Amino acid sequence: MKILIINGPNLNLLGTREPEIYGNQSFESFFEGLQAGLPNADLKYFQSNHEGTLLDKLHEAGFSADGIVLNAGALTHTSIALADAVAAISTPIIEVHISNVHRREPFRHHSFLSAHCVGSIVGLGLEGYRLAVLWFLRNG
Ligand code: DQA
Repeated sequence: MKILIINGPNLNLLGTREPEIYGNQSFESFFEGLQAGLPNADLKYFQSNHEGTLLDKLHEAGFSADGIVLNAGALTHTSIALADAVAAISTPIIEVHISNVHRREPFRHHSFLSAHCVGSIVGLGLEGYRLAVLWFLRNG
């Protein structure tokens, strides 16, 4: 099963960015552990700070991957283009947010993406990505 994890803007800074909200671990180190624990899954990771690059990646993987785990960062709350791409592709998507966006500022409460995703996981830290991958492995 081919599963792609996509992280959007500023998530390349995980481990150093606001650690009280996002934790101390880099995504690269988390991903290494995730892969090591699931040797039979074909996991890939992609990160970009650019909306258009994220759109291109969704178009590229969105008809061939079996599942996509997407944390679009702040674009979640602003980007209709990203929401349209999520709606346009055939690969199912699980939306993940490391922090509990509903306990934060009101502008983080709305996601343009959620309506087009299989489900959303928020507030469980990096563990949310693992749970999303496990869901695809069991149900995808
Ligand atoms: C985030 C939440 C967003 O509101 C924020 O802009 C991010 C990270 C999260 O994972 O908790 O960049 O998506």
